[in-house]
Amino acid sequence: MRRVPVSALVPGMRIGREVAGGRGEVYLQTGVILTHKYIRKLAELGFVSVYVRDALLGDLHVAEAKDVVRDETRREAVSGVRNLLREAAESGAKIIEPPRELARTVSDMVSQVVENPSPTINIYDIRAQNEYLYHHSVNVCALALVIGTQIGLSRRELYELGIGALMHDVGKIRVPAEILDKPGKLSAEEFELVKKHTLYAEELLQNNPPAAALAGMHHERLNGEGYPRGLKAGEIPPLVQIVGIADLFDALTADRCYRKAYRPDQALEMLLGAGDFWFDFDLVRAFVVNVAAYPVGTLVELNSGEIGVVVSTPKGFPTQPVVRLFVAADGGWLADAHDVSTLDKCLFVARVLDEEEISFIKKALHSRQT
Ligand SMILES: [Fe+2]
Repeated sequence: MRRVPVSALVPGMRIGREVAGGRGEVYLQTGVILTHKYIRKLAELGFVSVYVRDALLGDLHVAEAKDVVRDETRREAVSGVRNLLREAAESGAKIIEPPRELARTVSDMVSQVVENPSPTINIYDIRAQNEYLYHHSVNVCALALVIGTQIGLSRRELYELGIGALMHDVGKIRVPAEILDKPGKLSAEEFELVKKHTLYAEELLQNNPPAAALAGMHHERLNGEGYPRGLKAGEIPPLVQIVGIADLFDALTADRCYRKAYRPDQALEMLLGAGDFWFDFDLVRAFVVNVAAYPVGTLVELNSGEIGVVVSTPKGFPTQPVVRLFVAADGGWLADAHDVSTLDKCLFVARVLDEEEISFIKKALHSRQT
């Protein structure tokens, strides 16, 4: 399974992970074979990339990695947030309170993250551009819970963190959509308006002080570079920083109207660079050790010159995947694809292959088989 831009999809490719909308509707189920019509529809709906399970990787029998929360729970959370925010925006609500079902969904997410047996999280997220906010809220919630679990928060604290993370951007309902979805760079005045979403969130969440605090401070940074108040180290509680880390990572790995998604390895590198400048380094590390820099299905070239596909990542070593090799160091095809642990063999990922290289390999492999 690998993430492919919608512009690079071709009929016959098979969907590797379901494509769902903000109301919980599933547009394409896992396993569906793409047609011209489906591809056109995905583009119309505003999807920029989707996961496919193509012949190359299918032949290599790559096991599919599990998400940190179940698809069903994720759908419930996305549609719950969507309904809450839409209704609040339409009615001009002064106060937002998550309904009981949404609170229960957060409890479910806490349980699933705490009990998640998967060794390292593989980020598989697909969303339509116009529904960014709802998916983003749910992702930030799930990722924040991962960090919270790693540092040993209690269930009660995790629940509070989860609700705050889910609600962290509610203030955006008061920021004009043209500004939030602007494809280009924001003007200084527009950016000032965007910054206000933190203050709006404090007002909207006044009945839930812990959530109001998390939402109000999630853009504050330890070195004082954040907003709205330019708080500094010592003034920004760990739970707030956790939401900030999850928020930054999710924003970087998402396709946005003004830029394409960064790969997880690139986003992790940026996060590590922000350690002790923007966020407490221990909290950054608590996150980084849990996230696969090269998700299952990524095609990589190792420093040995060998090429293969990532099949798993050992716990605690996010940049050291196990790779199923199919191209030898001399560029020749390996007769039997075999797995190599980069950790055990002291190898590292030299680079991630791009879409053009992958299609070249697929064609070469195909002509070799026929
Ligand atoms: Fe935000």
